[in-house]
Amino acid sequence: MFLLETGLKQVYKRFVMRSPQQSYEDTERIVQFDFLRATECAALNTLKWMGRGEKEQADAAACDAIRGMFDLIDVCGKVVIGEGIKDNAPGIFKGEHLGTWLPGSPKFDLALDPIDGTTNVSKGLPGSICCLAAASPEEELAFSLKDIPSFYTMKLAYGPQVVRYMRRTGIEVISIRNPIEEILPVVAKALRKRLQDVAVVVLDRPRHAELVKAIRSTGAMVRMISDGDITAAIAPSIPNSGVDLYVGIGGSPEAVLAAAAIRCLEGNMQTMMRPRDEAERNSIIGMGFKEELNKVFYAEDLVKGDNVLFCATGVSETPLLRGVQVRGHTAVTHSILMRVRSRTVRLVEAYHDLGHKTIHLRSTKREMLL
Ligand code: FBP
Repeated sequence: MFLLETGLKQVYKRFVMRSPQQSYEDTERIVQFDFLRATECAALNTLKWMGRGEKEQADAAACDAIRGMFDLIDVCGKVVIGEGIKDNAPGIFKGEHLGTWLPGSPKFDLALDPIDGTTNVSKGLPGSICCLAAASPEEELAFSLKDIPSFYTMKLAYGPQVVRYMRRTGIEVISIRNPIEEILPVVAKALRKRLQDVAVVVLDRPRHAELVKAIRSTGAMVRMISDGDITAAIAPSIPNSGVDLYVGIGGSPEAVLAAAAIRCLEGNMQTMMRPRDEAERNSIIGMGFKEELNKVFYAEDLVKGDNVLFCATGVSETPLLRGVQVRGHTAVTHSILMRVRSRTVRLVEAYHDLGHKTIHLRSTKREMLL
């Protein structure tokens, strides 16, 4: 009883007593570094599975660290977007509660991908990150992070320079409904580049064979990735990432996570649901989403409001973040933390002494050395 009372008093002090001075929007500001620590711990805990051919073990390790870290954070976190159903792995799925849920703790909707690029981790390849987006629900909004009912989504992502060009010229050619051959010359113009220097990232999948042919027919450069399209979609919004456009069909939860980051960086992404077959189409219609099937969703339709943050830590090398590096007895992590409201982008390089660094895991309920 005493413990419970002390806990409640602490929460009261931290969140209720400060409310006269601090507005509701400040909630993310208070907890953002703890959220970043969650992706950092996930990346560190995944390290032992790098290149071991154990995709699911890697995923389980990342989930264990995220759950364990959230067990220490006084928030009421509800997972509204978890991993895609294709992962039979021990993932974090929609509906799960994360955080201590102490009375009075701030509420957060969470979108999580403990590892985007699990296959890359298992093969020891570049292109994997741990990431999450969090939104404190805003009263006037029905939702902050859209739960897209289709398994796959068609995506077209571009950076702020293209957004500004579209706004300035009023040109609407850069539309997901248009053929890529029409879009690319305009992207080149917006970026003041020769078309042959425009780099387009596409997931290496048989379903993209025609798309790849069409991109190449314009003279633009295709950069294929085997997995990990959250980073790929964010990359055009990162200066000097070497990626100008991301296009293709990828997972729907990944689209929402990418949209959160893209909104912080002032780029944009257009998406459309892409049912895999008639059965999925009918089931989406049956759920009442018939009209949405033909709708184009922009980043601000997938991630609404201003009280949103995104954070990620690199597991293996990506255009967005470096992977975890071990130098002697030190592990170095590279993370990004940003918020829609402030547009502040923090790049955090952390040095973890492997003789002392511990991670709080859900499975053991205690701090563990790496
Ligand atoms: P996981 O790491 O969760 O398996 O996702 C990897 C990924 O490449 C995503 O980045 C992408 O959106 C999706 O899989 C593409 O799906 P598919 O492999 O079915 O083409």
